[in-house]
Amino acid sequence: MEKNFILPDQKAAARRSKGAPVTEYGMFSLSGDAGNLGLGMKYYLRTYGCQANVRDGETIAGMMEMMSFRPVDTPEEADVLIFNTCAVRRAAEEHVLGEIGSLKSMKRAHPEKTICVCGCMAQEEAVVKEILTSYPQVDIVFGTHNLYRLPNILSSYFETHEKKVEVFSEEGKVIEDLPVRRSMDCKGFVNIMYGCNKFCTYCIVPYTRGRERSRKKEDIIAEVAALKASGRKEVILLGQNVNAYGKDLGMEDGFTDLLNACSDTGIERIRFYTSHPRDYSVTTIDAMKDHPNIMKSLHLPVQSGSDEILRRMARGYTSDSYRKLFDDMKERIPDITFTTDLIVGFPGETDEQFEETLKLVDYCKFDLAYSFVYSPRSGTPAASFEDTTPLSVKKERLQVLNERLAKYAHENNEKYLGRTVKVLTEGRSKRNADVWSGYSEENKLVNFRGGDDLVNKIVDVKINEIRSFSLDGEAL
Ligand code: SAH
Ligand code: SF4
Ligand code: F3S
Repeated sequence: MEKNFILPDQKAAARRSKGAPVTEYGMFSLSGDAGNLGLGMKYYLRTYGCQANVRDGETIAGMMEMMSFRPVDTPEEADVLIFNTCAVRRAAEEHVLGEIGSLKSMKRAHPEKTICVCGCMAQEEAVVKEILTSYPQVDIVFGTHNLYRLPNILSSYFETHEKKVEVFSEEGKVIEDLPVRRSMDCKGFVNIMYGCNKFCTYCIVPYTRGRERSRKKEDIIAEVAALKASGRKEVILLGQNVNAYGKDLGMEDGFTDLLNACSDTGIERIRFYTSHPRDYSVTTIDAMKDHPNIMKSLHLPVQSGSDEILRRMARGYTSDSYRKLFDDMKERIPDITFTTDLIVGFPGETDEQFEETLKLVDYCKFDLAYSFVYSPRSGTPAASFEDTTPLSVKKERLQVLNERLAKYAHENNEKYLGRTVKVLTEGRSKRNADVWSGYSEENKLVNFRGGDDLVNKIVDVKINEIRSFSLDGEAL
């Protein structure tokens, strides 16, 4: 059975090779009769985590459908179950493990069903060990670097029915031309780079996603143009640290250059995630300011307001330099909106240091923020930092922070009352089928009434009620 196992190795995953990444075209093909592998069979795909994972899920769906599998919405209906997982915090992992755990009896009753785990958890040495020892119902584990091998992995499993683990610890080439089944009709995710070289001391992503590799500009622009040609109105450019785009390709100011080129395609809306405060260039801010189709909303994770904590996180900026960047952007683009990520309870964080985070929040008054209690990740430097703060104290800090964040979110939204915003309609609201839902240019979630058949249309909506995390209105 061991011959079927290529296991992750976290030390190898920390290595960084040099030089420009190699791009491979036309590498994906279905050999033999793999195109019929799934004839008459159904697959269930569950994706967790960030938008990079959502985009990977779209590739997985594309490959499954090329192999003639049909999608279904529940594990019960499926012949092949795929869990595309996130490793960023233990809570996310426990959620997945709980879900897989609950499939034990289903697998016993239906041993012919195939259960696969992929995504970032599959890249973690400790997690794969845990799966192999405690989750025998899992048949296949494959990693983030060999997505394109899914057809080979599945067909060899179907032949032998022997458990298979194939996780590459070092990233390979940038693989172009993979199939994709887009999950949204109005917007599309476009990877501009893979991996991360920043190694913030708390974070698992550089180990699960490998070193930074930029896609070639022409391949990105071709994908944006294809999305536009398909009628979609928005592209979301993805990378763990988009400001570093093109550095590995020898480009001077690669991200600004790319933004300008994306803007020139004429697509209605461009957004990008995530920006690291450390690599921000003035030219990028100017590109945002100068092109009407680059949305003036920015996700700029700060993590903490304490210089000492930021230093121990290895974020590479201080709270002052963050404030300066923030002010600079506000000055150049007065109507810009800001969102951020914050971590409380980093090892050794004192009450005073937490107060510094609150002060920074008071200063920046973010439109929206994602806040988390620090979660130790095996193999990362911070996991071995001394941490004596009880979890109960960390949870209290999170609550205080969240109240503060909600206050500013609400205050920021107040200025929209009576205003008209342009909403790209995604569909019916999840809560109320009479109501449409979408995002404004400022990236505000807007629920509104009026009109028929508005999906993928940009609609003028007059705001008549505000909430902390959304706006309500009426289509004009
Ligand atoms: N590349 C992005 C972040 C990706 S992870 C960036 O640097 O901005 C998304 C968010 O998860 C991070 O911004 C951070 O706030 C949070 N996060 C990452 N690792 C974490 C951990 N170990 N514990 C708690 N939160 C974490
Ligand atoms: Fe993680 Fe830092 Fe890289 Fe973001 S920049 S993915 S937080 S290591
Ligand atoms: Fe999670 Fe991996 Fe994204 S750890 S946040 S799915 S890069």
